[in-house]
Amino acid sequence: MLRGFCVVALQLQQALSLLQKHPPSSGIDTLYLLRHPQVEAMVKQPGSPAALATLLLSAASGAVGQDQPFVCDGSGAAPYEATKEYIGCFRDPNVSILGEAKISTIAMTPQYCANWCGSQGFGFSGMVFGTVLQTLIQCRTASQCFCGSSPDYSRATNTSDDACSSKCAIEPSLYCGGQYTNSLYQITNPQGEPSGGTNSSPNPPACQTNPLCSHAVCDTSKSISERVAALVKDFTQQEKILNLIDASAGSARLGLPAHEWWSEATHGVGSAPGVQFPKAPRDFNHATSFPAPILTAASFDDALMRAVGDVVGTEGRAFANHGFSGFNYWAPNMNPFREPRWGRGQETPGEDVLLVRRYVQNYVTGLQGENPEDKRIIANCKHYAAYDLESGRHGNSYNPSQQDLADYYLSAFKTCVRDTHVGSIMCSYNAVGGMPTCASPYLLQDVLREHWGFDQQDYHFVVSDCSAVTDIWQWHNFTDTEQAAAAVALNAGTDLECGNSYLKLNESLADGETTEARMDEALTRLYKALFTVGYFDGGAHSALGWSDVATAEATELAYRAAVEGMTLIKNDGVLPLGSGYKSVALIGPFANATTQMQGDYSGKAPFLRSPLIAFTSGNQSWTVNYVLGTAVSGTNTTGFAAALEAANKSDLVVYCGGVDNSIENETLDRKNIVWPGNQLELVSELSKLGKPLVVAQFGAGQVDDSALLEDNGVNALLWAGYPSQDGGTALLDILTGKKSPAGRLPITQYPASYADQVSMFNIDLRSNATAKFPGRTYMWYTGEPVVPFGHGLHYTGFDFAWEKTPNESYAIADLISAATAENNTLNDMAPFATVTARVTNVGERASDYVGLLYLASGNAGPEPRPNKVLVSYDRLHDLEAGGGDGALLELPLTLGALARADENGDLTIFPGDYKLALDNDRSLTFNFALTGEPAVIETLPAPKESYEFSVPVHMQPESTEAMSPS
Ligand SMILES: *[C@@H]1O[C@H](CO)[C@@H](O)[C@H](O)[C@H]1NC(C)=O
Ligand SMILES: *[C@@H]1O[C@H](CO)[C@@H](O)[C@H](O)[C@H]1NC(C)=O
Ligand SMILES: *[C@@H]1O[C@H](CO)[C@@H](O)[C@H](O)[C@H]1NC(C)=O
Ligand SMILES: *[C@@H]1O[C@H](CO)[C@@H](O)[C@H](O)[C@H]1NC(C)=O
Repeated sequence: MLRGFCVVALQLQQALSLLQKHPPSSGIDTLYLLRHPQVEAMVKQPGSPAALATLLLSAASGAVGQDQPFVCDGSGAAPYEATKEYIGCFRDPNVSILGEAKISTIAMTPQYCANWCGSQGFGFSGMVFGTVLQTLIQCRTASQCFCGSSPDYSRATNTSDDACSSKCAIEPSLYCGGQYTNSLYQITNPQGEPSGGTNSSPNPPACQTNPLCSHAVCDTSKSISERVAALVKDFTQQEKILNLIDASAGSARLGLPAHEWWSEATHGVGSAPGVQFPKAPRDFNHATSFPAPILTAASFDDALMRAVGDVVGTEGRAFANHGFSGFNYWAPNMNPFREPRWGRGQETPGEDVLLVRRYVQNYVTGLQGENPEDKRIIANCKHYAAYDLESGRHGNSYNPSQQDLADYYLSAFKTCVRDTHVGSIMCSYNAVGGMPTCASPYLLQDVLREHWGFDQQDYHFVVSDCSAVTDIWQWHNFTDTEQAAAAVALNAGTDLECGNSYLKLNESLADGETTEARMDEALTRLYKALFTVGYFDGGAHSALGWSDVATAEATELAYRAAVEGMTLIKNDGVLPLGSGYKSVALIGPFANATTQMQGDYSGKAPFLRSPLIAFTSGNQSWTVNYVLGTAVSGTNTTGFAAALEAANKSDLVVYCGGVDNSIENETLDRKNIVWPGNQLELVSELSKLGKPLVVAQFGAGQVDDSALLEDNGVNALLWAGYPSQDGGTALLDILTGKKSPAGRLPITQYPASYADQVSMFNIDLRSNATAKFPGRTYMWYTGEPVVPFGHGLHYTGFDFAWEKTPNESYAIADLISAATAENNTLNDMAPFATVTARVTNVGERASDYVGLLYLASGNAGPEPRPNKVLVSYDRLHDLEAGGGDGALLELPLTLGALARADENGDLTIFPGDYKLALDNDRSLTFNFALTGEPAVIETLPAPKESYEFSVPVHMQPESTEAMSPS
């Protein structure tokens, strides 16, 4: 028995679990509970600490944050019925009339929406039919319901009722609003005060609500499997179907709430049907906005990627706990950035597979946390597989070779599934080998579940990309009907559909195209997954709240990620800027960029510090002459004169331009890879003025910088990606030398002619001289890049020395037996050797340094051989100027570093002579040999000769042009 027991807890949940372990009868001398208003109120009451603890425990069986202790009596949850009056139909392009709470469900009706809003104290409800991602509207019949206390009509216009006449999905006799058009109601009997104000309490876990708490799914004496089985068994067939889509209906009958699975977290909690940012000053009106992944990845800093994941996962769960998001966040986007014109390359870590794999490993683990049974959120590796084009994305089919699948297109998915505990995978829009990925037994069953072991946890699930199931029928022509598309997707293992073709499953069932058992299996995975995030019972992360969002540490991290990723491409010595500048001309379409700096899949940032804000901030003594000059794709030269005038009267010119989401975006690939509009013309004119000129190139997709590199009047060029909330500050601090640049380009910058030479639909990687195909990525490209992958300059100089090298020769057979003996699983992650190099900063400025270790061989294995392969990297921080002992780069190598796929897709170690080289300029090299016979360390199953489908299907030929609108 404990005496003198003292409970100090920062969070109510933590206190409760302590108290449950050490009941008050054991005697408590002191009880401190902080940060929870309800608890503070209790603690102020007179009484002994033990009595308080008892009081607290009795309250704990009820919903945290509710006024009354929770009593489970199985009573109906909503005797409340809102009375509502129709106000009208409003064009609402910014979805800004109501914005304090949001729910999205297939079960939406005007009454459902009014009940939901009214029960939370809101006086207004309004339905909008599909608001996020315009392109998806065609296939999105779930409506979003918005709530508010008072409508804001400032950015909306009253319009004809016809614009609000989209039919409610499961009650087509009723209308659920329109596209960007709000069908608005006033609620005359709202209940209580609006929830989620400036001091919001978390939503109670589902099993602390009536009547669900009395259902067997909430019986904690049973196993989770038994609880989920009881729930699924109790669903009607209609309820099952309505819970296999992202805007799931729950069950009003059982008291299971509706749940929108679709939330986004590519670089911060992002806008999505499942996410709501209410208006300030209400809680959850913003979340930390990190740089687009391609910039964070350019840091080559694994610890940073992990830290960003930790913050995004934490903030995501805080949103989910309070009902402002769901629990499944569809990030990361991890398709390697193969094609330079792809509009979504910004969401990815770049073109190199090792970098993608390490990014995924760190980011996914950060998002979910370390305990797969009690996650922060459920992450999602998307888009499986070989999706990397917007043009024709709903209908394209690719035939990558087994070799490229193993080496490139599937490699990082393998890491995600096998080496992280990722909870969900998204199948993509495109087809691979003739089968749409969401209907592919090869990808979903043979490779994902059987070969990589995705099935090892019964709470892992596959979700389709949004409308991808519809595409199976509509654009791929793989099936003849929509109900058949639903059946083949479900049968292949797509457990959850984003979209609404699964609403046809009742027809598929009636026609024997799928089975109820398969529906039950999918539902079981989904509800088990919700158990892993405390949806029913709460868990370790259930107390995360608004105070955990956009903390000072998160803000600093977002700034640091931008600084670490920015990459210096050219510098004739003008940078870092000296202190002598009295005036600076700040010119270009990114000079006053705000949301433009965020890129796609963004949420509401707490602030957006543009270059202009940073340059004019308090501690700068210079005068800033800001001129737009021209737009990103501007062809009008009228603004040039003002730009030249501003430059003429300044003693430094900083041009901020590049590409933005108006030309690279979801649904929008670029047509070419040149600087858009007349930006280069303007820069060229500025460069003739003889003033120091620095160009900051924003955006993810590279533009041919040849003209800037050749122009001596352009003194420096910095790639800044999409740096997000503190982008301006990061840029300024690098230019002035407060921070030193050390990022490396995570993609090849090809010459403009590449886009004419190469079809974007040709997904081969290896060059082919007879076909005049120059190959893709730094590994295979046979031409001369304008700026190579891995390039990045510094403000200082370094000396290098090997500290530890591998042996000069290895027998392949010995490597295999050592790996097998050590961990019993022979695969690409088996350790080979760790190389270390000492790096000394011999220049005059403190700096980070990224060490990239490449491997190449001129004779190992069959031709063609890659130019070189990145096999390890490490980032050293804050190397002091002027030497000292320097620091050690740790560069671990795995057997995978030595292997490449053969034509069957089997990872093979080939004998031959190999050269390791540190960095693009080969600062250090080391030669070693592998001897003996080639050895396979890992296989990729081949597709079967044929697959059985329950309906007639049509294998699709390879696409050479866009097969659908984007
Ligand atoms: C799809 O099938 C329809 C009907 O069989 C046919 O008319 C159409 O040309 C097909 N489209 C494609 C892209 O194969
Ligand atoms: C900069 O952009 C902000 C936000 O778009 C705008 O309000 C402001 O007027 C702009 N500043 C200048 C000097 O154009
Ligand atoms: C160019 O821009 C100027 C100033 O904004 C405007 O007055 C003029 O009409 C534009 N010219 C064209 C051809 O759009
Ligand atoms: C990017 O695409 C999304 C989805 O299609 C769209 O909502 C957004 O407005 C686009 N952004 C820009 C800057 O055009």
